[in-house]
Amino acid sequence: MRARKPKNVKQKLEAYNDLIISNPKSLKGKWHKYIYELCQVKNIVLDLGCGKGNFALEASKHNNDTAFICIDYEALCILAAVKKTRDLNINNVFFIQANSLDISEIFDDGEIDQMHLNFPTPQPKARHENLRLVNKENLINYSKILKNNSCLYFKTDSIPLYLYAKSQFINSCFCIYESPNNCYDDVFKTMASKISSKNSKDAILECSKNSNDSYFLNNIIDTSEVFTEYEIKLQKKGAKIYSLCARFNNNANIQKDHSKLLSPYFASLYDYLPSDLKTLKYVPYGMDEYVENMLNKNAKNQSKNQQQQEN
Ligand SMILES: C[S@@+](CC[C@H](N)C(=O)[O-])C[C@H]1O[C@@H](n2cnc3c(N)ncnc32)[C@H](O)[C@@H]1O
Repeated sequence: MRARKPKNVKQKLEAYNDLIISNPKSLKGKWHKYIYELCQVKNIVLDLGCGKGNFALEASKHNNDTAFICIDYEALCILAAVKKTRDLNINNVFFIQANSLDISEIFDDGEIDQMHLNFPTPQPKARHENLRLVNKENLINYSKILKNNSCLYFKTDSIPLYLYAKSQFINSCFCIYESPNNCYDDVFKTMASKISSKNSKDAILECSKNSNDSYFLNNIIDTSEVFTEYEIKLQKKGAKIYSLCARFNNNANIQKDHSKLLSPYFASLYDYLPSDLKTLKYVPYGMDEYVENMLNKNAKNQSKNQQQQEN
């Protein structure tokens, strides 16, 4: 049964007008001035698909020289987040109820100092690829609003989404620094090694060599110890976390090379799963229904074949 939506969410949100930015498009190009007037800080960190805001609220406690702008299109998430912000008396976290795909209409080039994509909705179907926050077109839009040399951090429980995203980051001219904690289950090792083909490894190394970077370089805030709501929830279900830090590289030569690099690339995230789904130890968030249906379908086919053989 579907959970009933609480009533009057819109009216309830009105009580938090000081925390919700209701006219974000009108602030395009003026964010730093606006934020400075609000809370006298200079850095702006963006959390896309913030959910109930736990990540930014936790990170803000240790970073009072930074403003966190959190975007989610779900009114209920924003409502839960602003309630917590008020209860905790935090004054450097603000919320926008909007579609993250419209980001270029809200922020101008170079206005953002750091960006986080924590457990973005995977949108596994091929026909929904354009809705995936980590697809190439969206990443290119993020690269524009990020300040030069600034970082984008991405975390997920889903190896299929991670591998897909990795190819998209590299092919959209980002240098990536993968977390040393990423650890692939055996069933994904072949796929992961194909994607970390020699060429792509060379490209990643080339980026690092050029910039003397390490995984958490240039970050405004160190979020390595800050956990998101989904991170905690999914880890309890047995998830391992895969993360990377990406930095836009405006070296045109590298972009040219990268455009031909990574293979294989699949539009559908289901194509990154192992062929024998029974070998999956953990089903990534957003894929439960598909995996269950396929397992049932395979079991039915197997028993049908068995019956035919017996007859
Ligand atoms: C899986 S939750 C992750 C929440 C949070 N980042 C965390 O790690 O706990 C994904 C969130 O992204 C939001 N979301 C998905 N697509 C979005 C989009 N295009 N624009 C804004 N929010 C989006 C959903 O409403 C949801 O709250």
